[in-house]
Amino acid sequence: MKFIQSNIKKAKKYLDNNHCIAVPTETVYGLAANAYSNSAVKKIFSLKKRPLNNPLIVHYYDIQRLRKDCDINDNLVKLYKKFSPGPITYVLKLKDNSKISKFVTNNKKSIAVRFPNHKLFRNLLKNLDYPVAAPSANISSRLSSVKPSDVKEEFGSKIKYILNGGKSKIGVESTILNLLEKPSLLRYGGLDTKKIENVLKKKLLININSKKKLSPGLFPLHYSPGIPLRVNVKKPKKDEAYLLIKKRKSKLKNHYYLSKVKNIKEAAKNLYSTLRKIKNDGFKKIAVETIPNKGLGKTINDRLKRASKYS
Ligand code: TXA
Ligand code: MG
Repeated sequence: MKFIQSNIKKAKKYLDNNHCIAVPTETVYGLAANAYSNSAVKKIFSLKKRPLNNPLIVHYYDIQRLRKDCDINDNLVKLYKKFSPGPITYVLKLKDNSKISKFVTNNKKSIAVRFPNHKLFRNLLKNLDYPVAAPSANISSRLSSVKPSDVKEEFGSKIKYILNGGKSKIGVESTILNLLEKPSLLRYGGLDTKKIENVLKKKLLININSKKKLSPGLFPLHYSPGIPLRVNVKKPKKDEAYLLIKKRKSKLKNHYYLSKVKNIKEAAKNLYSTLRKIKNDGFKKIAVETIPNKGLGKTINDRLKRASKYS
């Protein structure tokens, strides 16, 4: 415990000095900086090689602290009570007098916010005087990181500090909702949309490929291991790694599986680490079998479809 506290202190010191560090969350690791500081936030964009027009998610300890920066609405309160802290991000109206850096939101009047559910990160947030901007800790368009060694693989010595919180429990990014108007889905993620619909007692509008570019980060190519990937494959080619939802009895060298039994949550948790492993094992191509499009299967399929745009 003492060890953990001293790591949190270290992380706080870096953030207080407007540096950019990696932090663990229950979804994926984040590349974190003081959301009120222009210079700190700019470091995120340059480290990640992210275009400045792609806004960042800001992480808060609780809704009390959010009130300074955002207008709170009824849908937010309903969903917050049920799902936060947890893998859900809300797009809300930014207050005029908020101190959020204009680089976080690309100078817009809306902001994406989230309350992460990881003990270490929550402990850190509680001790800070500012919220934390944090995109996923990966180079733009590549695979997100779910453990410290992934972050090192992405950024090498360029990253000043990684707060080690073990492997992310959910393994895919948060589900993003636009709450500025009628609730709509901007990104499939770690929280099943059915559960959200049950709380709102209505169907969500699906806006994941919005032409309005509400979520400019949702480029067609994303979440890529950096090698070609095909989906819905029944018979892989000889030189392809074959990614399966469930372990098979046959132990072919090119077979990789996402879950021991057919468990979609376990599959989501293992998605990025397995894709990373396939690449690190030296394969140059990946074929993926059909993943059931239900629950978190929708999130897995969204990520795989975007990864398949690599060429
Ligand atoms: O689970 C997560 O959400 C992780 C962890 C670290 O919290 N973060 C994450 O951030 O996935 P990032 O930057 O990799 O993805 C955030 C997405 C981007 O597609 C971005 O365009 C969108 O959220 N976004 C950010 N601010 C927005 C806003 N104001 N309106 C609409 N979309 C926004
Ligand atoms: Mg990302």
